[in-house]
Amino acid sequence: QATSIPADRVPDMEKRKLMNLLLLGAVSLPTAGMLVPYTYFFVPPGSGSSAGGTVAKDAVGNDVVAEQWLKTHGPGDRTLTQGLKGDPTYLVVEKDRTLATYAINAVCTHLGCVVPWNQAEKKFICPCHGSQYNDQGRVVRGPAPLSLALAHCDVDDGKVVFVPWVETDFRTGDAPWWA
Ligand code: FES
Repeated sequence: QATSIPADRVPDMEKRKLMNLLLLGAVSLPTAGMLVPYTYFFVPPGSGSSAGGTVAKDAVGNDVVAEQWLKTHGPGDRTLTQGLKGDPTYLVVEKDRTLATYAINAVCTHLGCVVPWNQAEKKFICPCHGSQYNDQGRVVRGPAPLSLALAHCDVDDGKVVFVPWVETDFRTGDAPWWA
């Protein structure tokens, strides 16, 4: 006699559960929505990223370790690594054997050939149509219309990290055309 649940109570319990579910959903959906920007902020985009930058990769795809790099690349050296968006990017070793705080994107601003460094001439000379850039990548001879793009070159936890360069181009005093 006491074990039987009145039939009219059952729909009420179900209704209450449903109401709870709806209430929970109403509360948690906006919360989840607000969390999204934070999640994006703390998880840098892309692989091999660190603090918003991209770890430089050497010719065989290994992370570039600054100390190791400077042991095998002397003053004045400009050697290609894989940079932002996978673009071929020169690491620059300064005369005092430190890494420059800028790196040079090797994609010619004329029609996109990868521009080799000419150590004897101390210039980047494009094999495609003869454009020339000085040792910092500033255009000194056409047909290239613009200087080579820059990236910041930082060292984070021993590794070389590229960060997009959005400030004034220090070589020309102009706004960065690539940003
Ligand atoms: Fe470099 Fe034309 S692509 S000069």
